[in-house]
Amino acid sequence: MMKKKLTINGIKKAKNERLLTMVTAYDALFATLLQESADILLVGDSLNMSFNGKPDTLSATLDQMIYHTNAVCQGAKNTFVICDMPFGSYNNKRQALKNAIRVYQESPADAIKIEGGKDKADLVQTLSENGIAVCGHIGLLPQSVRGEGGYIVRGKTPHDIEALVEDAEAIEDAGAFCIVVEGVKAEAAALIAQAVKIPVIGIGAGSGVDGQVLVFSDMLGLFEAFTPKFVKKYIDGASLVKEAVAHYKTEVESKTFPANEHTY
Ligand code: KIV
Repeated sequence: MMKKKLTINGIKKAKNERLLTMVTAYDALFATLLQESADILLVGDSLNMSFNGKPDTLSATLDQMIYHTNAVCQGAKNTFVICDMPFGSYNNKRQALKNAIRVYQESPADAIKIEGGKDKADLVQTLSENGIAVCGHIGLLPQSVRGEGGYIVRGKTPHDIEALVEDAEAIEDAGAFCIVVEGVKAEAAALIAQAVKIPVIGIGAGSGVDGQVLVFSDMLGLFEAFTPKFVKKYIDGASLVKEAVAHYKTEVESKTFPANEHTY
C-alpha cells in the first residue's frame, strides 16, 4: 500500500498520539530506502561532515542544500522533506525570507529548518507569515560550534532549562510546526516537550520527547570519524562496505568475477 505523505498538520497532530521518526537523507538513492520507514526526511547540513568530510557544518552552502534537497525529494516523493538552512543564510529577516523562498522555488521541500531560540523568533514569525513551514532547532546548535568553542550539552542547570523552555515557547508562538532539540539532558528535553503543543524531535535528548532524529550515516554505521554518545549504530555499514569491496577485489584478481551469469 502506498504510504500517505505527512503534512504539517499531520505532524502537529502526531503530538501525544504517536512518536515521529525522522532521519537525515542527502541523496535520492538512500532517500528511497530510508523513506520506507521514516516519517520525515531531513536534508541536514550535517551532510557537510558525513558526506563532504568537513570538520563541521559551517561551510555548507545554500546551493548545496538545494541540490541535495532536490535529490532527496526525487527519491522520496511521498515523504515530508525538510531542508536545513545553512550557516549564514538567515542572519536577518530579509535574507532569511529571500533564501527560504529560493528553497521553495528551486526544490519541492516541504519545510525549512533553522537553528536558534528566542533570538530567532522574529525571523520564524516572518517566514511563517509568508507561507514558509518552519522547523525550529534549539539546544546544542552545531552552526554555533566555533562561537561556543565546542559541542556543549545543554540543560544542566535550572537556569539553562528555563532558557531552553523559553526558546521552545518563543519558536512555537512564532509559528514553527515542530522543533528539533539537540544535545540536551533528558529531563530538560522532557520539560521542553511538555511546555509546547508542537512535536519536539530529539537528538541526544533522551526519550521523553515526541520523536527522534538521527543522521542516517551514523545510524547505519557508515560514518567512522567519531561517534557521539547518542548515536546507536543499527548496522555496521562501514564493515559491510569494506568487506564487500575487499571480496570484489579478491574476485577481480582471481578472475572469479565476472562469472558466466555476469557476462554477455
Ligand atoms: O544537520 C543535521 O543533520 C541536523 C540534525 C542533527 C538534527 O540538524
